[in-house]
Amino acid sequence: MKTAIIFGSSGGIGHQFVEYCLTRYEHVFACTRRLQRFKTIERDNSGKLHLMQLDPSSETELQLFSEYLTGRDFDVQLIINACGLLHDETQQLTPEKKIEDFNAENFEKVIRANTLITPLIAKHLLLHLNKGGKALKQTAIFAALSARVGSIGDNHLGGWYSYRASKAALNQVIKTLSIEASRRFKHCSIIAIHPGTTDTNLSEPFQANVPPEKLFTPEFAIDKMMAVIEQASTEDSGKFYAWDGSLIEW
Ligand SMILES: NC(=O)c1ccc[n+]([C@@H]2O[C@H](COP(=O)([O-])OP(=O)(O)OC[C@H]3O[C@@H](n4cnc5c(N)ncnc54)[C@H](OP(=O)(O)O)[C@@H]3O)[C@@H](O)[C@H]2O)c1
Repeated sequence: MKTAIIFGSSGGIGHQFVEYCLTRYEHVFACTRRLQRFKTIERDNSGKLHLMQLDPSSETELQLFSEYLTGRDFDVQLIINACGLLHDETQQLTPEKKIEDFNAENFEKVIRANTLITPLIAKHLLLHLNKGGKALKQTAIFAALSARVGSIGDNHLGGWYSYRASKAALNQVIKTLSIEASRRFKHCSIIAIHPGTTDTNLSEPFQANVPPEKLFTPEFAIDKMMAVIEQASTEDSGKFYAWDGSLIEW
């Protein structure tokens, strides 16, 4: 049974991935730390949607999830990590404009949300993805939401130290994982993807100077990204894509 697993599914982008996958997959696991954020999702009566309250930075919880999947009839075809952090509600954590704004505690929080979760998910769930790809005879996709500002080659503006560093480190994890996957998880393609500036809580404080045509709705961003994700083959593994399928320099 063709299955997708979405992390960060209470977020603006993650939630829309769940909605999209409900129209294309037989089972969708929507993983979030905050189930109460799901009040607005249209509950389907088909039994397709599995809401999972889970902290993806907890190895214990990921291991339990992996054990739950073992031996059950889910062919995991897609895993997307849409968790991320740029600022928080307290206003104490905001992207740095200058080096004096850099704060060790905030840096650790941003790294935890943007970098740490992806290798932990891979450690516990990549075997299920590979098995799903093999069973369905289709490339199975592991995609992490990155950001263009994580590209070192594309950094012309500076600022945003923690967010940039966390996404650059995420990109390195994706590249490294793709190399291991080519040897050990041969049915998987491992990619990083940039959604474009999308209208969510994360981008909301930074939208003022974004021209309307460059501020995407989650629906638009997800339709575009899924067109890229669903086309990805094992030969595309280890690439960093933008929402429109163009490649971004690491
Ligand atoms: N929106 C944009 O314009 C834009 C642009 C470039 C890249 N991105 C990337 O796209 C991804 C999704 O962003 P979004 O716009 O959908 O943001 P969002 O609406 O703020 O959602 C972020 C999600 O990340 C989860 N999260 C945050 N910190 C976490 C942590 N420490 N542990 C576990 N989960 C955590 C939140 O889950 P909880 O409910 O559990 O807190 C939430 O579901 C992020 O990786 C972001 O960097 C977004």
